[in-house]
Amino acid sequence: MDKFTSLSDVGDPSGLLALAKEAQLNPHGWASLGKGKTLCLLFLNPSLRTRLSTQKAAQLLGMEVMVMNINQDGWKLEFEEGVVMDGDKAEHIKEAAAVIAQYCDLVGIRTFPSFKSREEDYSENLLNAFIEYCGIPVVSLESATRHPLQSLADWLTIETFKKSQRPKVVLSWAPHPRRLPQAVANSFLEWMRVADVNLHIAHPQGFELSDEFTNGIPIHHDQQSAFQGADFVYTKNWSSFHNYGETLYPNKDWEITLEKLGNASFMHCLPVRRNVVVADEVLNSSQSIVIPQAGNRVPAAQAALIQILQNL
Ligand code: CP
Repeated sequence: MDKFTSLSDVGDPSGLLALAKEAQLNPHGWASLGKGKTLCLLFLNPSLRTRLSTQKAAQLLGMEVMVMNINQDGWKLEFEEGVVMDGDKAEHIKEAAAVIAQYCDLVGIRTFPSFKSREEDYSENLLNAFIEYCGIPVVSLESATRHPLQSLADWLTIETFKKSQRPKVVLSWAPHPRRLPQAVANSFLEWMRVADVNLHIAHPQGFELSDEFTNGIPIHHDQQSAFQGADFVYTKNWSSFHNYGETLYPNKDWEITLEKLGNASFMHCLPVRRNVVVADEVLNSSQSIVIPQAGNRVPAAQAALIQILQNL
């Protein structure tokens, strides 16, 4: 694998999942694979899990890790071509990415959508510019449209907790006071398509995701009926794709409660707003698997890094 930015970068998704399972069982099994290699993690947006789990994964593989909150600690970056840089942006991505590549062998980058334009966000201009100008393998730490490290961890979590061969998995919208990207939801659907699951989506009218991700998956506007017989409820807020960036808040009707959940396990990528997205009673119950789900970010990141290191 020469980069990890979406499912399409992965030649054998089931093989990658199997590798993540191996890393889950034997985290120190590749302790010298990354010896002498450096990973640089760049964040244009905040992170807890992605930052720490990817750093931990790289260290388990024997790599050196550098982390930079590039928008706070570095020069403000210009991504546009041909601009007169007489404003507040002091460095162009062409130089910045190329220079970063002088210091490391792999680079991870987090770039959220700007919400200025759907076309711009969905063309992944920032991530693609970085890939082009750095010239070394790039791992997405979440981009405008996808979060593949999260999705691989989600798949591993479902495999770990499932009690039937083909569990029913429901991706459910939930309320949130802020405008959030569609990346986690898009990516979850993209990866669940290659998993052996009975996949459904539940959201209010107007919160359809892009057809590119939902095509062929049953969509419900009645959350309660969607949850019937569910084994896993994966909850996430996303803002509107069609009325790009619009939100719907407050909307208590879509908050996850124990009554709605039935016997299903509760999943969320975190961070999660208690008593907005999901009631305390769910997160405090044994049906919540969000902590092992977050723990699985480490073997998922290990698996992605192992496949890139093996190709260096
Ligand atoms: N789930 C996730 O990506 O968490 P962070 O934003 O804290 O990295």
